[in-house]
Amino acid sequence: MALSQKTIDIIKSTVPVLEEHGVTITSVFYKNMFNNHPELLNIFNHANQSRGRQQTALANMVLAAAKNIDQLESVLPAVMPVAHKHRGLGVKPEHYPIVGKHLLEAIKEVLGDAATDEIINAWAEAYGVIAQVFIDIEANMYKEAEEGGWGDFKELEVVDKVKESDVITSFYLKAKDGKPLPTYKAGQYISVRVRVPGEQFTSIRHYSLSCAPGKEFYRISVKREADFEPVGKVSNYLHDHVNVGDAIEASAPAGDFVLNMEETAPVALISGGVGLTPMMSMLETLVENNSDREVTYIHSARHEGVHAFSEEACELAGKLKHGSCYYGYQSPANKDGGHHFTGYITKEFLADKITKDTICYVCGPEPFLKSVVNMLVQLGVSDENIRYEFFGPALALEKVEAAV
Ligand SMILES: Cc1cc2nc3c(=O)[nH]c(=O)nc-3n(C[C@H](O)[C@H](O)[C@H](O)COP(=O)(O)OP(=O)(O)OC[C@H]3O[C@@H](n4cnc5c(N)ncnc54)[C@H](O)[C@@H]3O)c2cc1C
Ligand code: HEM
Repeated sequence: MALSQKTIDIIKSTVPVLEEHGVTITSVFYKNMFNNHPELLNIFNHANQSRGRQQTALANMVLAAAKNIDQLESVLPAVMPVAHKHRGLGVKPEHYPIVGKHLLEAIKEVLGDAATDEIINAWAEAYGVIAQVFIDIEANMYKEAEEGGWGDFKELEVVDKVKESDVITSFYLKAKDGKPLPTYKAGQYISVRVRVPGEQFTSIRHYSLSCAPGKEFYRISVKREADFEPVGKVSNYLHDHVNVGDAIEASAPAGDFVLNMEETAPVALISGGVGLTPMMSMLETLVENNSDREVTYIHSARHEGVHAFSEEACELAGKLKHGSCYYGYQSPANKDGGHHFTGYITKEFLADKITKDTICYVCGPEPFLKSVVNMLVQLGVSDENIRYEFFGPALALEKVEAAV
C-alpha cells in the first residue's frame, strides 16, 4: 500500500516531536499493552523492559523507519537482525495490530491535544506499512525454518553439561524427538524458552551456537550473570537447575551475524568475555573447511579464571594454514602466564595484527564493542568489514570519525 504525499508530509513533520517524547511514548505503550495483553509477557524480556533497553530499541526503529517512510528500503539492513530475533522469539503477524493499537494510543496519551485525528490517522497508515515490511520478511524466515522441519519451539534434551570456566558452562543439546537437528551458519543463535519455577510467564533468551555446524548436537555456552542484583534469571536457572537428561525449549537457529564462507580476505575474530561463543563456532568452521585464509583470533577476558576455551581456541587456530591466536587479561592472576596482553585491547595491538582489508567480526559487552569498533574505524577498516553482535537489544554504536 503506497502512502499519499500528505501522509508522508505529516509523518515527517511529526518525527521531531516524537523524537523528543519517543522513549516516554514507548514506556506508556508497553505499560498499557502488558496490562491488556499479559500473555505477551511470555515473549518479552522483563529485565530489558525494567532497564528501559527495549523501549529505546523500538522507539529508535519506529522513528528511523518513519524518517525514511518514502524510501523504506534504506532501513532494510536494520530490519533484518530484528526480524531474525522476532522469528526466534515467535513473534507472529497477529501480534502486529496489538502493538500498533497500543503504540497509537500511547502517542495520543502523551501528546494530548497536539495529536490530531489527522496525525493519528497518518501514523496508523505508516505503522501499517512498516509492520508489513517485518511481517513479509518474517514470513519467509518462518517458511525457511518450517522447511527445515522446525517452525516453532521444540524440545531439546541436554545430553552433556561441561564447565568451561568459573562463569561459563556449555550445554550440549539434541532433539528430544530423536530427529536430526538442522544445520546452521557459524555465528547464529538459538532462542531458549524456559519456565523458571515460581514465575508466572516463560522467559526467552538467545544463545549463540558455540561450535561448528554439522554435528549431531548443538552446543551453547552460557555465562552466569551474577555480578548485579537481581541476578540474571535464565542464565542462573540454566546453571543451577538444568542438567543432563532435562529438556529445554528452543526455536530454530537465527541471526545474520554469520561467517561468510564465500569471502577469502583475512579475517579477525575479536571477542570479549562470553562474546567468544560465536567466534568459537566461526573458528572451528574455518578449520573444518581447511580454510587458507589468514585468521586472527583475539580474546580479552577479565582473568584466567573466567577465560573459557583457552586451550581449544589456540589449538584450533594452530590447525589453520595461516592461523594465529592471542589473548589477554585485564587483571591476570599470573603476571608471566603466557598471555599476549595485559589490560584492554589497544589500537596499537590491533594495528599490529590486522590490516585495512581484514574482515573483522567483533562480539562482547557494550563498552568492549564500542571501544574495539571505534579502534577498527580509526585503523581504516571499512564499515562493511566491521561486523558485530551485541548480546542484548542491538544498539547503534557511536563510531568515531575514521582517522584519515
Ligand atoms: C544474539 C545474542 C546471542 C547471545 N549469545 C549468548 C551466549 O552465547 N552466551 C551467553 O551467556 N549469553 C548470550 N546472550 C545473552 C543472553 O541472551 C542473556 O541476555 C543472558 O544470558 C542474560 O540473561 P538472564 O536471564 O540471565 O539475565 P536477565 O534476567 O535478562 O538480566 C540481564 C541483566 O539485567 C539485570 N537486571 C535484571 N532485572 C533488572 C531490573 N529490574 N533492573 C535493573 N537491572 C536488572 C541483571 O542484573 C542482569 O545483569 C546472547 C544475546 C543475544 C541477543
Ligand atoms: C513494526 C513494529 C515493530 C518494530 C519496529 C519492532 C522493533 C524492534 C526492535 C528494534 C527490537 C530490538 C531488537 C534487538 O534486540 O536487537 C525488537 C525486539 C523485540 N520485539 Fe519488536 N518490533 C515491532 C513489532 C513487534 C511485535 C508485533 C512484537 C510481538 C508482540 C515484538 C516483540 C519483540 C520482542 C519480544 C523483542 C525482544 C525484546 C526483548 O525481549 O528484549 N515486536 N523489536
